[in-house]
Amino acid sequence: IREGHGRTWAKAILLGEHSVVYGHPAVAMPLHDLQMRATATPTAGPSMLHSLEYSGPMGDSGPGFACIARAFEAAREFSGRMDQSFEIVTTSDFPHERGMGSSAAAAGAVIRAVLDACGREASADDLFALTQMAEQIAHGRPSGLDAAATSSPCPIRFQGGQMRPLAQRIEGAQLVIADSGVHGRTREAVGGLRERYEADPDGVGPLINSLGALAQAGIAALDDGDAQALGSAMNRAHEVLAELGLSLPVLNRLTAAARNAGALGAKLTGGGLGGCVIALADSAETADAVASALRSAGAPTAWTYRMRTSEANR
Ligand code: MEV
Repeated sequence: IREGHGRTWAKAILLGEHSVVYGHPAVAMPLHDLQMRATATPTAGPSMLHSLEYSGPMGDSGPGFACIARAFEAAREFSGRMDQSFEIVTTSDFPHERGMGSSAAAAGAVIRAVLDACGREASADDLFALTQMAEQIAHGRPSGLDAAATSSPCPIRFQGGQMRPLAQRIEGAQLVIADSGVHGRTREAVGGLRERYEADPDGVGPLINSLGALAQAGIAALDDGDAQALGSAMNRAHEVLAELGLSLPVLNRLTAAARNAGALGAKLTGGGLGGCVIALADSAETADAVASALRSAGAPTAWTYRMRTSEANR
């Protein structure tokens, strides 16, 4: 037994949040510059957690840290080391509860740190299953998109619990991700949509299906290297998400500011009801203009990412 380390990343959903829960495809990018790190140090006393504002016994960490506590237990169980206590420290380059996948990223990093400390090898499928087990505490019934994207080396297409590397042939484009400053409420957003769907399947079902079709159009646009088509799918997806009651005035204002500054497309990203927006820019110059417009419109932070082209089996 030794000190163990784990690392995951923030993620941004380009298209397909919410409809992915209903079996449609989604597209997500790991944001490799924004890391989540965990350290697991063996200790003789009770297990302790130091994460965000919490510092104390793992067992007393409360509902806000239930996902991490579950990840910790799952990783010890998987390693056959339930008797071993650890001091767990997490640090992150990105805010939590902003639709950037912090709960899945934290769970994934803690699981990797504990397995590393125990010298226990795990396959990608095992790591995904352990992270999903922890995420179920935070989200209820997560699709698995966050667990997959926060630990992927490349952009992914995700559907029905399966992830595949994505073909990306748009040259020179950049993504801008901006924090609205409002906490996202993924669990509430997913639960609320489920209730509305069950109450009105004929009204809500077609909107969910259209989010799935837009994700499919986005996958084709990435494959064809067509930034305009990707941007249009993002703009339309924002409208549909808003129609489903998942946006907020601040998210509508930020996405409009991004479009006015030259973004080809802009939408909320993640669970909604707060969190982040994502915009597509055709060049680094436009991305800078979009990021500064988003800050002027009230976003406390905006990050820009160059989209790297990648090949994948068609
Ligand atoms: C949250 O980042 C993404 C949602 O689609 C929920 C899920 O996939 O479990 C809103």
